[in-house]
Amino acid sequence: MTDSKATKHPYFEEESSADVVNARMGPAIDPRFREVMTVVVKHLHAAVKEIEPTHEEWLAAIKFLTDTGHMCTDWRQEFILLSDVLGVSMLVDAINNRRPSGATPNTILGPFYVSGAPRYDNGANICLDGKGEPMLVRGTVVDTEGRPVAGAQIEVWQTNDDGFYDVQQRNIQPDWNLRGVFHSTAEGSYWFRSVKPRHYPIPADGPVGKMLGHLGRHPNRAAHMHFIVTAPGYEPVITHIFTPDCPYLPEDAVFGVKQDLIADFRRVNDSRQAAEAGLAAPYWSVEWDFTMAPRRQQATSHRPA
Ligand code: BEZ
Ligand code: FE
Repeated sequence: MTDSKATKHPYFEEESSADVVNARMGPAIDPRFREVMTVVVKHLHAAVKEIEPTHEEWLAAIKFLTDTGHMCTDWRQEFILLSDVLGVSMLVDAINNRRPSGATPNTILGPFYVSGAPRYDNGANICLDGKGEPMLVRGTVVDTEGRPVAGAQIEVWQTNDDGFYDVQQRNIQPDWNLRGVFHSTAEGSYWFRSVKPRHYPIPADGPVGKMLGHLGRHPNRAAHMHFIVTAPGYEPVITHIFTPDCPYLPEDAVFGVKQDLIADFRRVNDSRQAAEAGLAAPYWSVEWDFTMAPRRQQATSHRPA
């Protein structure tokens, strides 16, 4: 604790308010918890001092948090959505996934990942509802030296052409629509068929959606498909690829876009190539390599060295 008035007496004063509160912590508490709470109290008090809220404004903030809690169910985590739209989820992800240059960057996982998706051979079509513009995705999983990574697991999921994940439309979409698990070959290659992703709104019927409206923001995510790529000895990659023509790229609702994740989508209108790909012409062709960073020896410290 700093040499503030709080060290002299325990009573609340506006000027030293954060120090007074932090001085109440017991002597034998978990050191990391002490550090976290000290910082949270310090910045919370600083924000309140800068904002100088009225009682009504502070109650409105409490009501917003209460409504956010009430919106949560087993399937809906409104607090994570709040963290997402405030850019905090991306910041926590960035802090925990600092990678060597050239490695595929992470981005947000999102709430629609479901484990246990069907395992397919390379070339399978994960689009089970027949909607959307056909697409072939192919590429290689490599390490940061450019060497192929064999046997990597590539898990993919995306919305259908109406902008919904299968789990948002149970009994409307086929189970496991637009989800699948693939493995890279001995040469590191993978390929599968799907449909071109489209932009869609994050769930906006709760307090977070209302807040976005008050902020003059829309709820749309730039068109993307999700991947989790894992291989023994390498850091797992939780990421997306984005279509280059989506108008929401610069204003993705959850700040998930990174320049290095915008892929090249090539339109192919050649019936011979389409037949080879097992698709009807025209189709979209995407070539995308994943570059895996070696697994870190130990969990990294929460502070950069
Ligand atoms: C998603 O991409 O699936 C997503 C990410 C963050 C919030 C909502 C949806
Ligand atoms: Fe998504």
